[in-house]
Amino acid sequence: MQKLIAGNWKMNFGGSDAEVLALKLKEKITSPRCGICVCPPFTAIAAVSRVLKDTKIAIGAQNIAWADSGAFTGEVSADMLKTAGATFAIVGHSERRTYFGESDETVGKRALKALEKGITPIICVGETLSQRKDGVTEAVLKAQLEGAFLSIDKNGALNLVVAYEPVWAIGTGVTATAEEAHNTICFIRKWLIAKYGAASKILYGGSMNASNARELLSKDIDGGLIGGVSLKPDEFSEIVKIADSF
Ligand code: PGA
Repeated sequence: MQKLIAGNWKMNFGGSDAEVLALKLKEKITSPRCGICVCPPFTAIAAVSRVLKDTKIAIGAQNIAWADSGAFTGEVSADMLKTAGATFAIVGHSERRTYFGESDETVGKRALKALEKGITPIICVGETLSQRKDGVTEAVLKAQLEGAFLSIDKNGALNLVVAYEPVWAIGTGVTATAEEAHNTICFIRKWLIAKYGAASKILYGGSMNASNARELLSKDIDGGLIGGVSLKPDEFSEIVKIADSF
């Protein structure tokens, strides 16, 4: 399966600095073979997509509304995102779940709307450190997957992306070992195959960098969702090169 390297800029680079970063990526990533997507803040999506027009770098949003329009203060609709140039949307990132009350149910609704509108959702799932220590990782992931995929049919399930992001590895510098990531991703893949007969791309996310990417990507992992390092064009493009080598 072709690897996908996705950058989650989080709440950084939302103005003209985003265009500068996009320009650097454009210069450094010239003829990638893997899929690439960068997810700037909403305010920079249109500008970044103008800079990256005619490149192989796609643009994603960091969230997407489940409604089409109307009284949903603070939300951004799929049509608005498409107009701005986004073709991907991160859904259910652990920071949304932790700080903004995102639930398994709302993650499912957002993912469904994205698919309906032709935007590829990147559905994030992952356990906290205490859940891992308590030995409930698989139960937690199962509940997150059941919520996210509640109304998604087979066609949708094969046209989206899942990102396994252990919460304890996000932004901490502590990466899951390649073995841990591999085992948990195998569990997710089996869950998808049991429900749909096949599995989508499954990425790993959580302190991925140019030093650990090769080992992680060699373990039957279809790509990475990269936070901190996605703001560093040299290192991000290095990861793209590593992904291209598979
Ligand atoms: P990180 O973030 O690479 O900074 O750990 C990953 C993410 O939150 O998607």
